[in-house]
Amino acid sequence: SVVDQQVSTGQLPTWEEVEELTALAYAEYRDLDEGEVADYIPALAHASPDWFGVSVAEVHGRIHDVGEARHPFSIQSVSKAFVFALVCEEFGHDVVRERIGANNTGLSFNSVIAIELNEGSPMNPMVNAGAIATTGMLAGISHERQWSRIREGLSAFAGRELEVDAEVYASEMASNQRNQAIAYLLQSYGRLNRDPHETLDVYTRQCSLLVTGHDLAIMGSTLANGGVNPITGERVVSPDTTRDTLSMLAGNGMYERSGEWLFEIGLPAKSGVAGGIVAVSPGKGAVGTFSPRLDRAGNSVRGQRAIAYLSRALGLNLF
Ligand code: DON
Repeated sequence: SVVDQQVSTGQLPTWEEVEELTALAYAEYRDLDEGEVADYIPALAHASPDWFGVSVAEVHGRIHDVGEARHPFSIQSVSKAFVFALVCEEFGHDVVRERIGANNTGLSFNSVIAIELNEGSPMNPMVNAGAIATTGMLAGISHERQWSRIREGLSAFAGRELEVDAEVYASEMASNQRNQAIAYLLQSYGRLNRDPHETLDVYTRQCSLLVTGHDLAIMGSTLANGGVNPITGERVVSPDTTRDTLSMLAGNGMYERSGEWLFEIGLPAKSGVAGGIVAVSPGKGAVGTFSPRLDRAGNSVRGQRAIAYLSRALGLNLF
């Protein structure tokens, strides 16, 4: 097969081969019906389990889209990767390591007990506790300014202006008691720089930003390209921040399944409960996928399979 012939040469295959392999990854997993659509945020339950899109962005700006690669969905936890990058850019490596941490919890993304077991540490910026604490680090500015910094920053990664899905935002704000518990617990440990309610409002807005698989591929390829968006040419973050973000994704981006993911797929990645995944291959590009059927850790099933396939077929994998 095409996959077996592909050896990692340090370069992507030709345009036609990438086009063909992206289409094959889509066709191979389109009918896989494992996994469930998330419903703990009521508005997410409206998603069709059949939606599936795959997008590959090459580091020099060429993009390959298949299926529903242009279908909008809420970014959810994939936002954590890019908000972390913005905060890391502002505060630097040592401060984020000290304030947030870099180790996996081994527990689910919205675990409360992980905070207790670790004496109030949010542990890493990819679980809810760490992401809420990360968003809260943008202190000393107004609530509205904090939000516009995040929206503008994520839009710069995508190369277009991102908008909130008002229904998803309202639905999560009305059902996020667990995240409220996490935010207040962090505050009780002196781990939240801002008011818990305000911080959660911004965190929930960031999670409700609408993106497509195509956007995720561009956002990821900005990280693959040392922090410069390959489409707009804008420098969004520094190469140091890119390195810090990708190592954080490798260790924690797929939650308690991160080790297994790295062992099988060999790429830093981040998932979200609306069904998005972005996987980044430094120097080569990124894959963005969208399919709302999730496994028990909250990671899209078809997305994981399609990325596993492309990782090997395109020689993207680091390991
Ligand atoms: O805070 C939450 O629970 C959601 N806004 C995001 C969670 C999420 O995407 C977990 N990912 N797979």
